[in-house]
Amino acid sequence: MEERIAILGIESSCDETSASVVVDGREILSCVVASQIDRHAKFKGVVPEIASRAHLEVINSVVEEALIKADVEFGELDAISAVNMPGLVGSLLIGLTTGKAYAWASGKKFIAVNHVHAHAYGAIMGSSEPERVFPAIALLVSGGHTSIFLCESPIEMRLLGASQDDAAGEAFDKVASILGLGYPGGPAIDRIARGGNPAAIRFKRTWLGKGSLDFSFSGIKTAVLYRVRGTDLSRGDSSHLSENERADIAASFQAAVVEVLVEKAIIACKRYEILRLIVGGGVAANSYLREKLIERTDEEGIELIIAPIELCTDNAAMVAGLAYHKYREGLFDDLDCSVKSTGL
Ligand code: KG4
Ligand code: ZN
Repeated sequence: MEERIAILGIESSCDETSASVVVDGREILSCVVASQIDRHAKFKGVVPEIASRAHLEVINSVVEEALIKADVEFGELDAISAVNMPGLVGSLLIGLTTGKAYAWASGKKFIAVNHVHAHAYGAIMGSSEPERVFPAIALLVSGGHTSIFLCESPIEMRLLGASQDDAAGEAFDKVASILGLGYPGGPAIDRIARGGNPAAIRFKRTWLGKGSLDFSFSGIKTAVLYRVRGTDLSRGDSSHLSENERADIAASFQAAVVEVLVEKAIIACKRYEILRLIVGGGVAANSYLREKLIERTDEEGIELIIAPIELCTDNAAMVAGLAYHKYREGLFDDLDCSVKSTGL
C-alpha cells in the first residue's frame, strides 16, 4: 500500500494562529485559523507585542483542534513543521517554539518553513500533481511582502524582485485607514472599489526603471493622503468625502497597484520564457487583481494558477503542504534553528 505522509503545520508569523494536518502535501485533513483581527482593529494595524501574546494564549488549543478535526492521533504524524521566517519575531517564536517542543517531546522530525515560499505552495496545493506546475513564475502579495520568484520546484525558489518599501497589502491597509475604512483594509477597499471608477484619478504607477521586477508602494499611499486631505494635513480625516468620492479613490488606488503587480509578473514570465504564473498571498484574494490577472494572462498566453480564496491569507495548510516536499528531500531542521524577521 502506498505510504501516506501526514504532517502537522504551524503558522504564527503575523496575526493569525493556525495549525493544519496535511497528507502527501495536498490532502488537507484540517486547517484551524484563530484570527486576532479584533484585537488589532482599533490600532488600525498589527501591534507586535499584542500579537505574540495572543498567539501564546491559543496556540496549544489550535494545534489540538487541528488534530481532532483531522481525526489524527499525535503519534500518527510523520513530521512537524512550523514557519520560522519572515515575519514578526515575537509571533514567529511562539509557533516555532511550539513546533520544536512537540518534535522534541515526540522524537519526530522537524521542518522549518519559509512563510513566503509557503504562500506560493498554497496556490498550487489543490492541483492533483503540484510538482507538474514547475518551472513557474510566482507573484506573492501579502501584508508583509510583495515579491516575484522563479520557481524550479516547490522548494527551489529564486528571488527576482521584491518591494523596496511597503508591501502591497500594507498600502491597502494604510489607504483604507486614510479613507476611514476598517482593518484589515484590503477587503474593505476591494468592497467599496466595486462602486467606484478605476479611471477617476490617475495615481502615478511606480515602475522603478524599465524592466525592474522590484516594487515600491509607499509613494501611492502618500499620494492618496494628499488627495484626501489636500495640502492641509491638519484637516484630520476623510469625513468630508462623499461615498462616491471615497469609492473613486479606492478604485483608482486599487487600479494603480494592480496594474504594477500584473505587468511586472508578465514581464518576468516573458523574460524567463516561463509562461506559467502562480499567484498567492493575502492580496491575491482581491477581486480586481484576480480579474485583471485572468484578462492579461489570457491575452499573453500565460497559464495562471491562482490560490483559492481560502488559501490566500495566512494559514497552516500551505505550511504543512510545503513541508511535505522538504520531507521527501530529507530537508529536516535541527531543534536549535531560530526565527528571522526577514528572508525571501
Ligand atoms: O498573507 P496575509 O494573510 O498576511 C501576510 O503574510 O501579511 O495577507 C494579509 C494582507 C493584508 O494586508 C490584507 O489587507 C490583504 O492581505 N488582503 C487584501 C484582500 N484580502 C486580504 N488586499 C486586497 N484585497 C483583498 N480582498
Ligand atoms: Zn502571509
